[in-house]
Amino acid sequence: MGVLFKNGTVVTASDMTQADVLVEGEIITLIGQNIAPGGHEVVDCTGKYLLPVGIDVHTHLDLAFGGTYSNDDFNTGHRAAGFGGTTTHIDFVIQPKGGSLHDGLNVWREKAKPAQIDYAFHMAVTDLRPDVMDEIPSMVAEGVTSLKLFMAYKNVFQIDDATLFKTMQIAAQHGMIVMVHAENGDVEASLTPALLAAGKTDPKYHAASRPPEIEGEATNRAVVMSGLTGCALYVVHMTCESAVDALRRGRTLGYPVMGETCVQYFFLTVDDHLAQPDFHGAKFVCSPPIRSTHDQGILWQAVKDGTLQVVSTDHCDFWFEGGVGPVKEWAEAHNGGDWHTFEAQDPTYRRPGKELGKGNFAKIPNGLPAIEDRMMAVWHGGVNSGKLSPQRFVELNCTNPAKIFGMYPKKGAIAVGSDADILVWDPNKTHTLSAKTHHMHTDYNLFEGMEVKGVPVQVYLRGSKIVDGDQWHGKNGNGQFVARKPNAPVL
Ligand code: URP
Ligand code: ZN
Ligand code: ZN
Repeated sequence: MGVLFKNGTVVTASDMTQADVLVEGEIITLIGQNIAPGGHEVVDCTGKYLLPVGIDVHTHLDLAFGGTYSNDDFNTGHRAAGFGGTTTHIDFVIQPKGGSLHDGLNVWREKAKPAQIDYAFHMAVTDLRPDVMDEIPSMVAEGVTSLKLFMAYKNVFQIDDATLFKTMQIAAQHGMIVMVHAENGDVEASLTPALLAAGKTDPKYHAASRPPEIEGEATNRAVVMSGLTGCALYVVHMTCESAVDALRRGRTLGYPVMGETCVQYFFLTVDDHLAQPDFHGAKFVCSPPIRSTHDQGILWQAVKDGTLQVVSTDHCDFWFEGGVGPVKEWAEAHNGGDWHTFEAQDPTYRRPGKELGKGNFAKIPNGLPAIEDRMMAVWHGGVNSGKLSPQRFVELNCTNPAKIFGMYPKKGAIAVGSDADILVWDPNKTHTLSAKTHHMHTDYNLFEGMEVKGVPVQVYLRGSKIVDGDQWHGKNGNGQFVARKPNAPVL
């Protein structure tokens, strides 16, 4: 006995076809015209689209960062993702300073125990000692086939050029992909104190401390190293013209370089958001910063013409008004500690959030809430406006993420033999994005009040319905780790 999706339009990265889809167990077993209902449970999809469910390859759940922790974890973040039509994500394990890659992996496996949707891990290398170089190949057997390096966040996560180059050499030998956060952290570390000393402490000066040039420069540096080493490179959260130009140049030269942007960079600007008065701009502080309407046009063009292959979120959410309780003492006592226990003892407590940076933009925790809104906002801004076809939408948000990160065709496809991760999408239904209704564990929404047309109505994870309208049917522990394959294609 299976589940038969009848009368819908199947949207894949290449086609839009009227077809029925049969799911038996966790797998799609048949796609065709007029499949007989037999004894199957029938889901009438008249007027609806059937999409492969979204894959978000860039998230930071439960991350110790900026003097606090990101709010959403592998419980709340999974629920929010599912409601937004995403059932697989890849989170960044951080190698602890002085520790091994496996130490980091063990920490993230523990965090992931309540998983309600499927997940995988990238490995962020922060300390490339000789023993860590030797350890890198063992990540492939763990199903972790991508390494992340931060070219920014000096004295926190930042690595030097030698580390980037050596990591790429090792990764290339083992069919792994290297991802970079491309901003010149040394230049940022020089600009920031000068701005603060001049009294420029408001959130909007965060953007001045990280101008687009330092993103373009770092992107170019990583692209050149990809060309020299032959290592597949994926540049995360690209925001601006100089970075897109650097990537495009590398691709023209035939280097194995790819890139993503994140949903927020299509919609938010310094002038309209980061510069909001009374510290409200802090809600929009992330790195690299949100940019200008000019850059937004560049990004839409780049996802359209194939210079960029993926749209993700970089979901890393913090309270706007957090810190109910003794903020300073908490941050000192618990940064790096076990906030789960602490919050369980005092459920009224809110861990510190954006307010840590009042009077000093450099102390605002960097990161934004977006895991729930990506699919709806990109459909609305991209497909409804005619900038993207529905097929390109699927390619950017579902299929390319699976291909580039070694999960295809298990994930990212509506095809016989693929996991039955099916998103029933109503292209005519409207919804207003808002903190009042979202499921992300934060007190503001980036797109507050934006009315979108095109929303998830039902979401299936490996054949099980986890979302039905506003009802959640997911269960803790049902999310599975996805072991990824090496030697994934460069798109
Ligand atoms: O501001 C951001 N992007 N926070 C998350 C960490 C990162 O750089 O991706
Ligand atoms: Zn980053
Ligand atoms: Zn990130």
